[in-house]
Amino acid sequence: PRKIIIDSDPGQDDAVAILLALASPELEVLGITAVAGNVPLPLTQLNARKTVELAGRKVPVMAGCDRPLSRVLETAEHVHGKTGLNGADLPEPALPLDPRHAVDFLIDTLRAEAPGTVTLCVLGPQTNIATAFQLAPDIVSRVQEIVLMGGGFFEGGNITPAAEFNIYVDPEAADIVLRCGRPITIIPLDCTHSALTTRARVERFRAMGTRVGEVTAGWLDFFERFDVQKYGSEGGPLHDPCVIAFLLRPELFGGRLINVEIETESELTRGMTVADWWRVTNRPPNATWIREVNAEGYFALLAERLGTLQS
Ligand code: BDR
Ligand code: CA
Repeated sequence: PRKIIIDSDPGQDDAVAILLALASPELEVLGITAVAGNVPLPLTQLNARKTVELAGRKVPVMAGCDRPLSRVLETAEHVHGKTGLNGADLPEPALPLDPRHAVDFLIDTLRAEAPGTVTLCVLGPQTNIATAFQLAPDIVSRVQEIVLMGGGFFEGGNITPAAEFNIYVDPEAADIVLRCGRPITIIPLDCTHSALTTRARVERFRAMGTRVGEVTAGWLDFFERFDVQKYGSEGGPLHDPCVIAFLLRPELFGGRLINVEIETESELTRGMTVADWWRVTNRPPNATWIREVNAEGYFALLAERLGTLQS
């Protein structure tokens, strides 16, 4: 199986992404590194452990950076609720927090595994990844690939008119990651805004008749209410599991290798992902920008895989 590390700030959609990865035999999850984002770090690491336990698996969960590189932390309880996982109640996990710092785990794991064999799946602000790259530049060339959820260009932003939440929270970190020189795939709002949690799709999880199905449906019911009110769409965008789905079924997605730069100076457009989709500059391509997803195929994959988790 392909080795991955999931760096995440759960968050309902992060949690579903973790479940999808843990349910997929093609992937070996080496660890889950938590970062501050949707909610503060003590909650994201707790939510990651609750999710691993819900899946009935044992994967180490490490806590990482509790704030962005140089900004004040801004969170998103208005989207995810006070706990970050509102919509379903999960018990206190028996799985303890791994004592290693997430950044040390990233560095040590990338040094220990064969070069080019570990993929980083980044579902929150990029603070942990950027910190590891800065502290240990030798690990950068050992990364196989980075697949991250963040940004938006054609669809605009979701936290400001110009910026998507993950990039907005820590634009300096995103800038470091985008300049790292390794293959990067970006799943922006331009893609996830067509991956909507319609009624029928949510009911499919509930109809599984398992704890995982019921919890997932509860999360998605809660999570969608914000985006439905905001965009008037049927269901909300299910962002983060697209990262895992991309590794499992890349043919469900469409995009282009282009240049993407992060705005870090302006307060008005802080965290904007300037995507040179039309290749109107000579700036070198640094990321594959995903613009399309086969939503039916994506939700079918989620239903199939989450259905194998019998808890
Ligand atoms: C991203 O921000 C968070 O609210 C979600 O978990 C997702 O990673 C979407 O903008
Ligand atoms: Ca997230």
